[in-house]
Amino acid sequence: MNLKFDYNNMMTDAIGDKGVCSCVFEKEADSIAKAFKTVMDNRGKGWQEWCDLPFVNEDYLDEMISYCGEVGKKADSFVLFGIGGSALGPLSVATALLHLHHNELPKEKRKAPKLYVEDNVDPERMKALLDVIDLKTAYFNVVTKSGETSETLSQFLILYSLLKKELGKEEAKKHIIVTTTIGKGTLYNTAVKEGFKIYGVGAGVGGRFSVLCPVGLVPFAVLGLDIKAMLKGAAELSRVSAESDVRKNPALLSAFLQCEYMKKGCNISVLMPYADSLKYMADFYCQLWAESLGKAVDLDGKTVNAGQTPAKALGVTDQHSQVQLYTEGPFDKVVTFLAVENYRDKVVIADDKEPEMCDFLKGHTLNELINAERKATEFALKKAKRANFTVTLPEVNEETIGELLMYFMYETAFAGALLNIDAFNQPGVEEGKKATFAMLGRKGYEAKMEEINASPKKSEYTIG
Ligand code: PA5
Repeated sequence: MNLKFDYNNMMTDAIGDKGVCSCVFEKEADSIAKAFKTVMDNRGKGWQEWCDLPFVNEDYLDEMISYCGEVGKKADSFVLFGIGGSALGPLSVATALLHLHHNELPKEKRKAPKLYVEDNVDPERMKALLDVIDLKTAYFNVVTKSGETSETLSQFLILYSLLKKELGKEEAKKHIIVTTTIGKGTLYNTAVKEGFKIYGVGAGVGGRFSVLCPVGLVPFAVLGLDIKAMLKGAAELSRVSAESDVRKNPALLSAFLQCEYMKKGCNISVLMPYADSLKYMADFYCQLWAESLGKAVDLDGKTVNAGQTPAKALGVTDQHSQVQLYTEGPFDKVVTFLAVENYRDKVVIADDKEPEMCDFLKGHTLNELINAERKATEFALKKAKRANFTVTLPEVNEETIGELLMYFMYETAFAGALLNIDAFNQPGVEEGKKATFAMLGRKGYEAKMEEINASPKKSEYTIG
């Protein structure tokens, strides 16, 4: 395993009685073992099909690398239309592994198409996208597991109409890859009828657990990223996640500690990467943690209103924005730092004699500065008795990112099992999707519209 996990500052030894006593590992041994068994027994089954993703057939990957590689050569821009789990994985990984100003690089240096992950239906954003891409050289990946999501289907309809006008139907089809559940859903049916290239999302792979299936692998292969190395990293974290000793299993350990902190009223989990490349990993984590653990009832039908609100921060930027609150505000947070040992670039702070200023900075590197600031923040939190945890990546690359993704997914699954809730459904999201269908007059949603109309009307509580 490449990643390192430091949980010292979660424990009483470091932060006193605000921390977790190491005695709880023994005290809670049965509940840890039960949660571990629940996740292990279901690996590869039902909604835990994502556990098998690192072990996919090589031939399948080779076909994908070859087809998507060709698309990558032809495309000047690659646009992904999707939302939630169908966008955040691709966005977070691509940001981690591509040049930080990928789209602005000249073509020869970029060596891959520009990437646009379009996960909103803001009309200004769609218009802005169309202003910057050339339809003749743009390729599109329409990603929706259900094949029913209004946002993604609207984006597809707009785009396909424009593409047909620009290129003619036969050529337009070649510019579209669809990623969806095979054999099911509106988009799948259309894709078959129109003859688009289709990649399948497994029936038991939920949106937020889908980054290592074609939802993520297709765009990564188009961009020339090493998807086999990514899956290798994910496989390694799967191996470690099957370790029954909680102190040797980082995903089980951090899930358990987070649940202990929830019991103490720490209802906020902050993820704070100290790397711009990992900025969107915090978005990926936020969705995974929020949508999986935020549940009204437990598996026994008891109302629990479980969950811990995830929050994102970026080191060092948010030291000058949020850290004041983390250090002195309510004792309701656990902060997880993502640290990077070796940044892929090194920048020296100029040590010219002139101007005469800041000698303490001159000659050091930004690498030293960012790491010193992370350690300083960790120290400040510890001093203020605030729980914090550090995950260190030796470097950001395909393999370590594969490990990190799998760590987050197993951590979430273990936390769900510890909380005795279903971490793999999302009834709250589905309710909003159905209400949208009803409001737009979709057939079959008349009863939902009646329910909306019957709900209490907005009354006088409005200004302006
Ligand atoms: O994690 C989830 O299940 C959701 O966030 C979905 O990914 C999101 O709602 C998009 O759904 P779909 O991929 O079916 O369009």
